[in-house]
Amino acid sequence: MSSISYTEEKKQSLRVRLKSIAYEAQDVLLFELTPLDGPTLPSFSAGSHIDVHLPNGLTRQYSLCNSPLENSRYVLGVKKDLFSRGGSNFMHDELKVGSELKISLPRNHFSLSPESSHSILIGGGIGITPLISMAHELNAKNASWQLFASFRSRADLALVQQLNSNRVHLHIDDESSGGFLDISSVLESAPAGSHFYCCGPEPMLNRFLELSKSIDPSRIHFESFKPVLANLSGDSFEVKLIKTQKIFSIGPDQTILQVLLKHGISAPGSCEQGICGTCETRVVDGIPDHRDSLLSAEERSSNQIMMICCSRSLSPSITLDL
Ligand code: FES
Repeated sequence: MSSISYTEEKKQSLRVRLKSIAYEAQDVLLFELTPLDGPTLPSFSAGSHIDVHLPNGLTRQYSLCNSPLENSRYVLGVKKDLFSRGGSNFMHDELKVGSELKISLPRNHFSLSPESSHSILIGGGIGITPLISMAHELNAKNASWQLFASFRSRADLALVQQLNSNRVHLHIDDESSGGFLDISSVLESAPAGSHFYCCGPEPMLNRFLELSKSIDPSRIHFESFKPVLANLSGDSFEVKLIKTQKIFSIGPDQTILQVLLKHGISAPGSCEQGICGTCETRVVDGIPDHRDSLLSAEERSSNQIMMICCSRSLSPSITLDL
């Protein structure tokens, strides 16, 4: 994307215009964002998401679902959620075409692996959004891929039609006597060396994670809307901030982010559930106890980054690049 540092990148935001809102499926709208400061937007890779800073004060994360080859717009697919705390409902009911919005630069914790000889994309419902962008990127590279897209009913069918490809395998729960998509056979029939990417509702993701346990974790990729691990408490530990030159103690029921903010330290954060990546911080020393739902197995074992809103420390002390 650019050569700016991670921390600088976090501080950057973009002004965009909401150019159009289009109906895509039952309770799903597409929001097209175009640049306000220049002809193009920063490039992004498939699987990226952005923070949208809503005029009601909330910040929400949405995946980009258009092709990464496009540089003049970002497209978001947003499903209205009856239990929304003001994010998707606000997007659906209050936002007007022509509005100016503040967004973050695209970030990617769900990127395509360059190692993959064949990519299997498995999506359910609105979880299809990042996979559509992946399919565009894979198509552009002439790469080998398949998309298994699952929806509850035809009325929920979103975005897959634009791919118009025999690589897309559609599953409609209501039209299948077998019920849900058979993830087990998708995994079993995949060519050797395939990488698997899953994004969808919690039951689908849990089935995928359970069934893929025997596969090399470096070939398993997923994105979650909800935290996979809910327990954020644990033993106390010490946090050293290398730039700020401060040391704090993190209690059993506190998170690093909570303690830093309480002491007036400027630290990035948004979802506070380990699912958006906003609080990703570089680890200088120590062993993180990862509790997030987005880092890959490789990123976890590298011990180089952690999500400070939820992850803890396995070592008595951990040093962060803050
Ligand atoms: S604030 Fe969202 S992952 Fe930490």
